Amino acid sequence: MSEKPWQGRFEQPTNRHVEEYTASIQFDSRLYRYDIEGSIAHCRMLAECGIITHEEASLIVGGLGEVLREIDRGDLSLDPAEEDIHMAVERRLIQKIGDVGGKLHTARSRNDQICLDMRLYVRDVIRHGRTLLLAVRKGFVETASRCMGLVMPGFTHLQHAQPVLLSHHLMAYYEMFRRDDERLADCFRRADVLPLGSAALAGTSFPIDMEYTARALGFSRVTRNSIDAVGDRDYLIELAAAAAVIMMHVSRLAEELILWSTSEFAFVEISDAFCTGSSIMPQKKNPDVPELMRGKSGRVFGNLMALLALTKGLPLAYNRDLQEDKEPVFDTADTVLSTLRLLGRLLPEIRFNEDRMREMAAQGFTLATELADYLVRKGLPFRKAHHAVGQMVQYCIQKGKGLEDCSLEEFRSVSKTFDSDVFTFLDLRAAVDQRVSAGGTGSTRVAEAIALAREEIAAIERGLEA
Ligand code: ARG
Repeated sequence: MSEKPWQGRFEQPTNRHVEEYTASIQFDSRLYRYDIEGSIAHCRMLAECGIITHEEASLIVGGLGEVLREIDRGDLSLDPAEEDIHMAVERRLIQKIGDVGGKLHTARSRNDQICLDMRLYVRDVIRHGRTLLLAVRKGFVETASRCMGLVMPGFTHLQHAQPVLLSHHLMAYYEMFRRDDERLADCFRRADVLPLGSAALAGTSFPIDMEYTARALGFSRVTRNSIDAVGDRDYLIELAAAAAVIMMHVSRLAEELILWSTSEFAFVEISDAFCTGSSIMPQKKNPDVPELMRGKSGRVFGNLMALLALTKGLPLAYNRDLQEDKEPVFDTADTVLSTLRLLGRLLPEIRFNEDRMREMAAQGFTLATELADYLVRKGLPFRKAHHAVGQMVQYCIQKGKGLEDCSLEEFRSVSKTFDSDVFTFLDLRAAVDQRVSAGGTGSTRVAEAIALAREEIAAIERGLEA
């Protein structure tokens, strides 16, 4: 391997083990497009500001284009002696166009260059993530709209609590993924800032125009402090945090799908294409996809912790420790994007077992609250009503029957407030549809929620087109 760009003050070559230990080319090579795109914008800015000539700039830009095509074809040395993607690209450029290629690194440093590459990368990841989230949100809205009217038991403590619409339950996930999208959009705003020109840490004495470079690369703003620009990684931590919340939401959904596909629940069936079998038990059909979604969330949480621990003790500004930010960020992005992509495809593959859900919705005295509310409407204080229905439930458990199986006499033996109209309150659909408080499970409310979600999705799609 020939001399390194920084070899000037060194008398001995780098130890091979040190090269291997310090190199990042094995993982930062995936940034090559951003690195070259950033270099082209930087080079044009240098010419625009009279720091290099336009002839020099066009040689460099042409050379960078060739390097890009070479790497696209799979022609990039990942030798640790290349150190990182910035040096690999620059070396290849100089090999191609000669010494003039060495002018590209004027008024910048690898410290601001890597921040630029990562900000360009994060913007792309967020754009991609938001598109995938949109498909997931659409999937929930479509399924909720298709299943409208289907009643299931709502749970607290994993015990039957009150009947709800399946669509209401599904729209709960829509809300979670809607907020996840807001978090990504918010993270985008802070990542969308150009750091190039901060140089090593102090800025540069060359008359650069950061606004020019920002415009060329589509950044909304330029960084306001060069030390902060090369030293902080909060935009990566925010991405990791937003991704962790997404994975936490996906994992809860996955857990429900796993539980709901057991023979004990039997609420859903996931299509064969999304399940696998067992090598020993011929009867098995396992929900591996949701299981892995649940499992992968742990890695993403770990990556967030890794980034926080990586940065917590670092003095300003750049320290080589920061090279360790790449792998957790790449792994986070790869995991969350592949998970969302698959989730969008999984949703249409779920079949809900309507009869089973409706049957279970009535079990476990899920209408007890209804009865208590009935007594309250007749004038009983809620606490007294609660107690009376509790006695009624205990009576039913002893007799081995449901509330709806009791006669008026049996009701009145517990409280004289019960009247013959009590039976109209023991209807699942009626119980559901009366819950029309804001965000409640009543079908008018759920239909409104679905309509609103459709408008939100349409607005985002219009924005994407624009
Ligand atoms: N590879 C480094 C990183 O990922 C960027 C280059 C800065 N290196 C340096 N020795 N100043 O952070």
